[in-house]
Order: sequence, then structure tokens, then C-alpha cells
Amino acid sequence: MPKGKKKEKPKDCDTKVLIVFYSHTGSTKVMAKKIAREICADILEIKPAKEVTKSGLKFLWGGAQAVMKKEPELKPLKKDPEDYDVIIIATPVWASNMTPPVRTFLNKHMARKKKVALIAKADGNAGKTIPSMKELLVKCKIIATLELVGNYADKKADFELDIEDFVGTVQEKV
Ligand SMILES: Cc1cc2nc3c(=O)[nH]c(=O)nc-3n(C[C@H](O)[C@H](O)[C@H](O)COP(=O)(O)O)c2cc1C
Repeated sequence: MPKGKKKEKPKDCDTKVLIVFYSHTGSTKVMAKKIAREICADILEIKPAKEVTKSGLKFLWGGAQAVMKKEPELKPLKKDPEDYDVIIIATPVWASNMTPPVRTFLNKHMARKKKVALIAKADGNAGKTIPSMKELLVKCKIIATLELVGNYADKKADFELDIEDFVGTVQEKV
């Protein structure tokens, strides 16, 4: 479908779609909620049992955790991914990769075959985030991917078009 072409609204909200996201400073959360509204999806925020510091040290500590492919323990999930046929997973980009809580989620909760769509939210470059996520989802069918690079307020028009395309692709393949 051509970029930016309007898609029909979902006919109903009965589809079993879940958007799972981690967000440290809130921007991925805003995007995940927006997409959830457009797709009529349920939403699940994952949080590590011990959150990374909000101070400037987060770049050093969080980046190192991402590079070392750490898998921190998560707080109990408030929804069961097993109840859903389609899962959209959104992560901020840390050190050109997925965040550690998302790595935990992919390895612990995505072992069964499902349709999956992936979102990476970055400031400058999503790096190998989407390819790395795909590597952990060998049993799943990847139906769509989306890289949101930059600040939503600055790039609103571009983001809206890309999100619209992503939503349309997911709706076609659900
Ligand atoms: C530890 C850390 C590492 C990051 N590494 C990258 C990076 O490699 N590339 C990039 O474009 N942005 C990087 N960022 C910026 C975040 O991906 C970006 O601000 C994202 O929108 C944050 O999402 P959130 O607000 O949902 O936490 C990094 C941020 C942190 C905290």
C-alpha cells in the first residue's frame, strides 16, 4: 500500500492484539499508547524489578547492560501474552540494541509461534535493534516493523505517516 494512504478503521476491537512495551523516559510509552488506540489493541507495560537510574549514569549503566545482553528480572506481568494471537513489541534503543527488559520478555514469553510486529524508538539511529529482536523470535512470523527515529514533536508528520503505514500493515495481516 502506498505510503500515507488512508486505511479503513478496524471493524471492531475483538482482535487479540497486545502491545508490549518498555519505556524509561516515556517516549516509547506515548507511541505505544497511540498505536494501541489506532489498532484497538490491549497494552502491557513491562518493568524491570530494579529500574535503571534516571540520572545521567543511565547512559553508561543502561548502555552497558544492553551491550552485555543482560536479562533483568521483570515485575509480574499484568496481562498474559499467551492470551493473544498477535503481539506488537516496542522498545527504546539502547546502545544500538533493544533494552534489557525487552530482551527478557522476548526470551521468556515469546517461545511459542505468534504473529509479531516490532517497534524501535531511537533518538538518532535504531542500529541493530530490529534485526536483534528478530533473531530471538525464530518461531514467530514478523508481520511489520517500525523504526521511529527522533523526537515526536519535531517529526510529527513523518511519525504519523510511518505509524499509519505500520498500523495498516498489522491490520491487513491480523
Ligand atoms: C542507555 C541509553 C542508551 C541509548 N542509546 C541510543 C542509541 O544507541 N541510539 C539512539 O538513537 N538513541 C539512544 N538512546 C536514546 C533513546 O533510544 C531514546 O531517547 C528513546 O526515545 C527513549 O525511549 P523512552 O523515552 O521510551 O525511554 C539511548 C538512551 C539511553 C538511556
